[in-house]
This record gives sequence, structure tokens and C-alpha cells, in this order.
Amino acid sequence: MYDVAHIRQGFLGLSKPDEHGQLPLLLDGPGGSQLPKVVVDQMANYLYHFNSNLGGAAHAGRVTQETNDKARQAAGAWLNCPASSVFFGLNATSLMFHASRTIAQTWQAGDNIVLSSIDHFSHVSSWQLAAEDRGVQVRKIPLTADGSALDLSALPSLIDERTRLVAVSLASNVLGTKTKLAPITKAAHAVGAIVSVDAVHAIVHECVDVQALDCDVLFASAYKIGAARLGVCYMNERVLAAERFYKVEPATNMLPNAWEQGTQSFEAQTSLIALLEYWANLGGVPASEPLRTRLMAAYQVVGAHELSLIQAFLDGVQKRDYIRFYGHKDTANRTPTFAFNLIKDGQIIDPKAVSAWFGAKNIALPSGNFYALDVVRKLDLVETGFLRVGFLHYNTIDEVARLFALLDECVASV
Ligand SMILES: Cc1ncc(COP(=O)(O)O)c(C=O)c1O
Repeated sequence: MYDVAHIRQGFLGLSKPDEHGQLPLLLDGPGGSQLPKVVVDQMANYLYHFNSNLGGAAHAGRVTQETNDKARQAAGAWLNCPASSVFFGLNATSLMFHASRTIAQTWQAGDNIVLSSIDHFSHVSSWQLAAEDRGVQVRKIPLTADGSALDLSALPSLIDERTRLVAVSLASNVLGTKTKLAPITKAAHAVGAIVSVDAVHAIVHECVDVQALDCDVLFASAYKIGAARLGVCYMNERVLAAERFYKVEPATNMLPNAWEQGTQSFEAQTSLIALLEYWANLGGVPASEPLRTRLMAAYQVVGAHELSLIQAFLDGVQKRDYIRFYGHKDTANRTPTFAFNLIKDGQIIDPKAVSAWFGAKNIALPSGNFYALDVVRKLDLVETGFLRVGFLHYNTIDEVARLFALLDECVASV
């Protein structure tokens, strides 16, 4: 059985009151997860006892090398690829900019790339700026009329023989919509284009398999799921073997290491190893089984819990006329992430004021555009933005109920 009360005991931040003694209610999951104590402990243990750089022959240096190898293997199990297809960086955004600049070297004027209107702009600006540098045309997959998903009927008119790359996110960090990737990879690969996937939001809620997805590049970010800040990138052999690397000359030319810029955060790598072990334990499969098998089981168990949160949230929305909900209301094909505004006297209540009202009660209910710029453009919310609720595996049905009680109070009082 999924014991959420027990799970919560492993996160010290979930029971840490603010200066007024109020316990936190964290509804800002897509902004980043709390870290389980066991993860922080292992990170601290690395820093206390083994802090070193790569290449050291003494004990700490050897442990650091082992950590680096293990982190790559663990990330490979997480993404279902060989360790040699994974490299690390500061965060997903910096890896996206690094990848785009390197990959774009072979693009020429007259080529085009296809980006997505549902994406967080890390995965838009990085490719767009690289395209501008190379004089390459940028095309965008539009959103459906209601702004809830990508309109894939536009694909045939967007992808052609000169398309070099299609970049799309696996799930929206604001609407929670999951992308149907198969038609996109099929159309892109038919013309030899690379497919880049932003899985930063999706991988917190679904077991990602780069082989099943048939993508060429994929990005994840460890702090979203409960490790420290660490960018993770998968590339298949075709993309990994770049024409020329943006690297320090004496640094290794070995792959995948040649993609890693400067000294990496071995403490963050330690946290990823520990987090994936923590996550794998949620699935209840014996530790003797391969990490990938255990992670797959864990995602199923977490997914069932999150489905109950999705159901409870959508039921609550259904009962309230004052909620203007953006995105689709099906429980399927979505993560537990939702965008909405509150309406009073026919007007949107300023979401920043709502966030502040909740913030004063130590409740994290953020507002803004969350860098999903094309989504707010489509919904005509560039000035206003929206509120975003995003649940993680440690949120509870009681918290969903508490949120709605407070939303009722907030609408009545502002
Ligand atoms: C979908 C998505 N992509 C990319 C990013 C950027 O990730 P990072 O903060 O690791 O640079 C975020 C961060 O919120 C995100 O939600």
C-alpha cells in the first residue's frame, strides 16, 4: 500500500513551520521537489568525507570517480539507455543552450527547425537563438483552439526536407498536458531531423524510456524530482558525436565526457544516485532486481497515487463556478499540474494577489507565466498570467481538500 504519511516523514521541510508557527502546504511541485532526508544525508556524507575532483589517486578522488560512474549508470537506468549516452551539467537550461549551440554548427541558411508552442521557453529560446545565429528559419507547432494541447494536424505543413530538428516537451509544466510524441518523431525522422525532448516536467510523473520514445536528445533536471540541482542529458550516438565540441582544449575528448563543461557537481551526482534509490524503493520490488525494473514499478505506484490527486482536484474544480480552468479536464494524459484563475464579478482576480494571500498562510501557490510564453499568449494572459497548482508524490488528498476550502475563503474575502 502507498503510505503517504510515512513518505512525508522522510521530508523535513514538509513539517517545518514558518515564523508564525504555520505548517507549509506545498502546491508548487513543478517548481521543484523537497529532498528526502536520506538524499541530503548522502550528499552531506560525500561532502564531509570525499570532496575531491576527478583524477585524484587518493581515497576521496577514487570515491569521486566511482560517484561519477555510478551517477551516469543510475541516470542510464532512469532513462533506459547506456551510461555512455548520459552527461551532466548545472541544470536543464544550460544543457539545452550548450546542446543547441553545438548541434546547430551543421545547420545552414535555408534549413528550418520546428519548435513547440506548449514548451517552457528554456527549450524554445535555446534552439531559437542557435537558429538565428545560423540564419535558419524557426517554425512552431501551434496550440489547439482552446490552448490545451499541441495541434499535431499542423505537422505536415511544418516538417519538410530542410527540417533539421524538432524540439518538443513531453509534458507541459503549466497545463500538465502530455504530448503525443510518436507522430512527431515519425514525421521528423522521415526527413532525417533530430528530435529533442524536454522531459523536465514529465519525468517527475512518468517513467521515461528514451528507446521507446525514439528521441535523439532528452533533457531532465534532478531537482524537480527530489535530488539537488543537476541537469541530465541523453543523446544517442548520432548526436553525441558532434562535429566540434565547445570545450576546454586539454579536457577529455572521450564521449560522453567531452560534452561536460568544467568541474561537475559530484555532490549533486551523489544526490541523484540516492534519489533514484529512494524512488526505486517506493515500488516495493526487491533491491536485488535491476534499478530500471524497480524504478518502473515505483512510477506505477506513484502514478496511481497521483491519479487520485488529479481526480480530487478536477472534482473540486467542477464544483466551483469561480474557477476559470485552462487545459483539458480529463484525468488521462496529464500530470497533476493545473493552471487556472479565480473570477469575481466577471473579472480575473489578480493571481499575484491570490499568491500573496496564500503565501501569508505559508502556502506555496505560485502565479506567473512559468516561462510557458506561447501558452499565455494563446490564452490572452500575457499581462495577467495564472495560478499553478502542481502536486508531487508526497501531496495528499487532505491537502487538495484544504486547498479548495482556502480558495473558497480567498474568493469570498478579496
Ligand atoms: C518543462 C521545463 N523545462 C525546462 C525547465 C528548466 O529547467 P532548469 O531549471 O533545470 O534549467 C523547467 C523548469 O522549470 C521546466 O519546467
